Amino acid sequence: MLFCVRAVSGAAQRVLLAPVCGFQTLAVVARSVSFSPGQVTSNASFHSVSSESDHPKVLITGGLGQLGVGLAKLLRMRFGKYNVILSDIRKPPNHVYQSGPFIYSDILDYKNLREIVVNNRITWLIHYSALLSAVGEANVSLARDVNITGLHNVLDIAVEHGLRLFIPSTIGAFGSSSPRNPTPDLCIQRPRTIYGVSKVHAELMGEYYHHRFGLDFRCLRYPGIISADSQPGGGTTDYAVQMFHDAVKTSTFVCNLRPDTRLPMMFIEDCLRATLEVLEAPAEILSMRTYNISAMSFTPEELIREIRRHLPDLQVTYKIDPVRQAIADSWPMILDDASARSDWGWKHDYGLPELVQTMLNFTGSDSRMSQAN
Ligand SMILES: NC(=O)c1ccc[n+]([C@@H]2O[C@H](COP(=O)([O-])OP(=O)(O)OC[C@H]3O[C@@H](n4cnc5c(N)ncnc54)[C@H](O)[C@@H]3O)[C@@H](O)[C@H]2O)c1
Repeated sequence: MLFCVRAVSGAAQRVLLAPVCGFQTLAVVARSVSFSPGQVTSNASFHSVSSESDHPKVLITGGLGQLGVGLAKLLRMRFGKYNVILSDIRKPPNHVYQSGPFIYSDILDYKNLREIVVNNRITWLIHYSALLSAVGEANVSLARDVNITGLHNVLDIAVEHGLRLFIPSTIGAFGSSSPRNPTPDLCIQRPRTIYGVSKVHAELMGEYYHHRFGLDFRCLRYPGIISADSQPGGGTTDYAVQMFHDAVKTSTFVCNLRPDTRLPMMFIEDCLRATLEVLEAPAEILSMRTYNISAMSFTPEELIREIRRHLPDLQVTYKIDPVRQAIADSWPMILDDASARSDWGWKHDYGLPELVQTMLNFTGSDSRMSQAN
């Protein structure tokens, strides 16, 4: 494997200086630097001269959250370690830093993001940076900046450089006036959180750029995602992840949603596989650009019952968080994902029993390891 650090080539500069689609003329600052194997600098061209070069070159923004590291792992297995760059504004933990290319990128810094895309010859952009539902309500102006201004930067760069752009949306893009059981792909969307509003904006802007400028925009509305080895980032469905950890560690859990709150959920492996599938789908089989995907729906009560089949001593009390409860009460109970299933054959692997078994295996072995250390 050979890595090169180099300035943008003359040809690339000529292309970049040409106005594209009526957008502003681009100018790229080239500097020369050195870097360590785990890190890519924004003006480094980080590429391999092997068969890996035939694969897409992927940049993941907001990659240190609940989903990005797992997605990078999956994409690196598919496209090669050095074809997938993780980025974020946070410092990566050691195991992530050692696992493949990482670069600092604030999506609010348009020039820096563009420089990374150009110098690394990025072809696919996976835009994960966001403030999620509960965190967004606690800091609306930051959520507006990251989720809307940041989105505009990403959209413009994707159009300018002909990228395939994936942006996840959410069940939070629906509201209490949407049909909730089931919720189809196309229906009224009047969310009342800044998170939901910004995600509807992302869906519509992505589709608008697709029709207006030919942007290869792809979007999945994820349900609440459940993972064992990564912490959720402040969403309303996080209670489910926490319940597994607390059940294993202390056999007690305080639930912040009512016992009968039904929400769509998905195990992380299904979510990441669905993302890869829609990214790889030939454009002609996509009848839409924004799809619901679904696996299961359950209430806290049903999750507790399933966990108690393995851990009968689990004690649960309820301390309802009015902000999260109001959000959950306005979200879909069941997502209708018939279009994803018919267009590219989407099929989930994990239902509730498989999810609980797998999560307890992961969290149980984690906690046994930490007790031993
Ligand atoms: N996790 C879920 O259950 C879920 C459900 C539906 C949709 N999604 C969507 O999937 C995506 C990833 O979700 P996640 O759970 O990994 O989120 P997360 O909150 O765990 O991570 C988001 C990341 O964005 C980064 N970030 C914040 N501001 C930034 C900025 N200015 N520049 C660059 N990065 C910035 C944060 O540091 C964080 O690492 C998000 O777009 C989210 O809306 C997630």
